Amino acid sequence: MDKIVIHGGARLKGELQVLGAKNAALPLQCAALLGDGPTTYRHVPRLSDVQTMNELLVGLGCAVEGDRTLTIDPTGVQDGPKEAPYELVKTMRASVTVMGPLLGRHGFARVSLPGGCAIGARPIDQHLRGFEALGAKIRMSHGYVEVKAKRLKGARINFDMATVGGTQNVMMAASMAKGTTVLENAAREPEVQELAVVLGKMGAKIAGAGSSTIEIEGVDNLQGIDHAILPDRIEAGTFAIAAAITGGDLLLLDAPSSHMHAVIAKLEEAGAECRVEPGGLRVIGPDELAPIDLVTRPHPGFPTDMQAQMMVLATLARGQSVITETIFENRFMHVPELCRLGADIHVNGNVAVIRGKARYTGSIVMATDLRASACLVLAGLVAEGKTEIRRVYHLDRGYETIEKRLRKVGAKIRRYHGAPS
Ligand code: EPZ
Repeated sequence: MDKIVIHGGARLKGELQVLGAKNAALPLQCAALLGDGPTTYRHVPRLSDVQTMNELLVGLGCAVEGDRTLTIDPTGVQDGPKEAPYELVKTMRASVTVMGPLLGRHGFARVSLPGGCAIGARPIDQHLRGFEALGAKIRMSHGYVEVKAKRLKGARINFDMATVGGTQNVMMAASMAKGTTVLENAAREPEVQELAVVLGKMGAKIAGAGSSTIEIEGVDNLQGIDHAILPDRIEAGTFAIAAAITGGDLLLLDAPSSHMHAVIAKLEEAGAECRVEPGGLRVIGPDELAPIDLVTRPHPGFPTDMQAQMMVLATLARGQSVITETIFENRFMHVPELCRLGADIHVNGNVAVIRGKARYTGSIVMATDLRASACLVLAGLVAEGKTEIRRVYHLDRGYETIEKRLRKVGAKIRRYHGAPS
């Protein structure tokens, strides 16, 4: 198992290229199942989650080629098993997003029910409620859920919460239903909008993506397309915090600033300078950080996927900050590891009270999930001495060769292969 070692203290300076978005790539890979021919995506990030999704698609009968430019040919799915097996779903919950396109195009899908996850229970009841409303029969047995329908029919669906995966899964199924579907309390994330753009290019009729009401008029067929994936707002936000906490100056090339307003607002509140420049977002760290209070919310609120990273900034600020996590019930797993490095954080339920001006000193820490591992990298960048992060396979799920890219802008960071876990 790999580990990452960081010697802290460097001010990061220079340009960093923001790559394609993981949380757009995964549902888009699934959307290719809806096409009557091959679909090609460009700017695809080289991540283990994208690889896992490719494996799942091949298991369904797709031909998959390439990586940065990825071509998915779904014509073999017609005669395939239409099943997402336990071994893949347990590795990556986003595997359940094949259900909507399989149901929409082939009228059947069998998917292993995802178990719990490090950050929360994460049920898929809203996905299934949506499919049922479209007329699908749902059957659960032996840890799998089967959804079946001769032809889906349009319906009005009101989600109990603005679920990203639920909105994407049901939107894909409804794009080939008979009649019109209206999704209410739909998720407004940029990755939902990106999926609607791709489905529209394939021939779907979708209006309102980005708002909480999405209308989908079903069509009989969708075509394969060619599409460049949007840059990753969470990766860009993570690098922006790296500039802010190291007193650095980074130009984040292709950073999707228009999708990052809540994060940029908090960075400016903390005293960082954020400038939209030709080619990207420039972030300059202040001499001293100011405290911030934040509550995670669905988009356009503050993203839960930036909570752990922003907590590192709060631990370094002059004064007390309060962070409230409202999306996932168990997303403070990084707190004990930050405290091992020297932070002063008290958690009570979904509220973390952070006393600032932490003096981090390097140590061995354990990554527990994707964004928690990113926050440990950030803490390592400012810690005195050596920080060793273990279980970095979590990091590789969402950040492509982060150590090489940070080294280019001055970080003293290395990866070691085959380290003890
Ligand atoms: C997506 O997960 C992202 N994953 C997550 O990013 C992100 O944290 C999350 O949206 C929220 O922004 C991908 O895009 C692959 P949800 P998703 O359905 O779709 C509850 C990362 O770090 N809920 O919006 O699974 C659920 O338990 C990952 O990149 C139900 O109760 O999130 C959660 O509390 C982590 N029933 C809340 O809603 C349902 O049927 C939001 O979940 C569906 C969701």
